[in-house]
Amino acid sequence: MAKQMMMPPDDLASRWEYTNKIRLWNQECVSQRKVFVQTFGCQQNEADSEKYLGMAVSMGYKATDTPDNADLIIVNTCAIREHAEKKALSIIGQYKHIKAKNKDLIIGVCGCMVAQEHRREELKMKYPYVTFTLGTASLHHLPRVLWEAIESKKRLITTDSDVDFTETVAEGMPVRRGSDYRAWVSIMYGCNNFCSYCIVPYVRGRERSRKKEDIIAEVKALVAEGYKDITLLGQNVNSYGKGTDTDFADLLAELDTVEGDFWLRFMTSHPKDASHKLIDVMAGGKHIAHQFHLPLQSGNDAVLKAMNRHYDMNRYMDSIHYMREKMPGITVTSDIIVGFPGETEDQFEDTLTALKEVQFDMLYSFIYSPRKGTPAAEKEQIPDTVKGNRFDRLLATQNEIAKEKNLLLQDQILRVLCDGVSKGDPGVYSGRTEGNKIVFFKGTPDMVGQFVNVKIDKTEAFALWGEIEKT
Ligand code: 5AD
Ligand code: SF4
Repeated sequence: MAKQMMMPPDDLASRWEYTNKIRLWNQECVSQRKVFVQTFGCQQNEADSEKYLGMAVSMGYKATDTPDNADLIIVNTCAIREHAEKKALSIIGQYKHIKAKNKDLIIGVCGCMVAQEHRREELKMKYPYVTFTLGTASLHHLPRVLWEAIESKKRLITTDSDVDFTETVAEGMPVRRGSDYRAWVSIMYGCNNFCSYCIVPYVRGRERSRKKEDIIAEVKALVAEGYKDITLLGQNVNSYGKGTDTDFADLLAELDTVEGDFWLRFMTSHPKDASHKLIDVMAGGKHIAHQFHLPLQSGNDAVLKAMNRHYDMNRYMDSIHYMREKMPGITVTSDIIVGFPGETEDQFEDTLTALKEVQFDMLYSFIYSPRKGTPAAEKEQIPDTVKGNRFDRLLATQNEIAKEKNLLLQDQILRVLCDGVSKGDPGVYSGRTEGNKIVFFKGTPDMVGQFVNVKIDKTEAFALWGEIEKT
């Protein structure tokens, strides 16, 4: 993928200049223009979408929760698997009808998918109603690109809005958060690991960390506003601060000194960088949730090597044993890919054995999806039927483990952050534990966004049930 250097440097003043131009243009419109942001993919994308929405609102748009009456639609795409791209393209396809009714509608496609040249080409040729594209590292250029699209009335599906991998981190973007008690805080962007199956390093660029002071200020402000569950985000958070005198464990230790009643979490970590120092900081922390998402990907050393993961099962188990020794009861979750090119039946069974050995609380399982431009995509692929069969066996194995793990929580009183009424039953509320497990209980509206204590009286593989425990 060609590296583009055409973006102007990040200049806060020019960002505000374009924001103001659009705000004035919007003020001239009789009825207030509306913006709809559609998000696919990971938490990082959700966090990015909160910035897209924040920027659009500061440009004078009103947020709407349906694309049908929107004047600006931003689709924030994911490229991690083919399915995610297909879903985004299908939704973009449906916007054709909205554009037919409103010729002034502006549709911007952002995120990981459009950082790939072949996808931009596809959008250009097959989706003529898409107005512009914007890569992930160029997110803060939305006001300029949007203004250019408005003024020129031209489509901007060009490399001009491509990812600029060399840019430093942009600060000061307005954020429209989706919740007033759970928040995402990006701490670093990009990835340098180049796992052989993964598109992320190509679409999100090289690792770059935010300044510690900026992160601390954001977390302090969130806690002061009453946020109770803060997740630090990065493709590989343990790489935070590489090349500086601060590492991720130091950052976490410092954030833990912020006064207030809140949980602090982070994701995602790479097992090769999960240090004892980090685990010690977690164990000694006041606010740091005892929850660790540590993607294993495969339980076989040869497959891990072919994946370019830089750890083996021994190294991985050392981290698991150490964290369980320091934090008994910690919730451990993971990602597994089945059907990586060349994975044999025996190698897959090593993954099943690893699951039984580690005893994850929860697993995010994925069928390998070849990504254009990555080394693994060039290898001979495993038939879909074999992949599907392995996937089903993986889920069945993990289901039993998750059931057993949750059974250990029977009769325990757990602290739960209440999210609101559950979808199916108006009297039943749901919330999340420190380990991020979902709990259902009979609640009241005043509990939403608050910590409550719930005594667990029923458990299944994917959820817990209980009664409020009065203090
Ligand atoms: N195919 C399937 N799963 C993938 N992941 C990353 N790339 C691929 C791919 N090409 C999974 C990994 C990663 C998670 C976010 O997505 O398990 O940890
Ligand atoms: Fe992808 Fe590996 Fe980077 Fe995670 S660490 S984003 S799996 S390349």
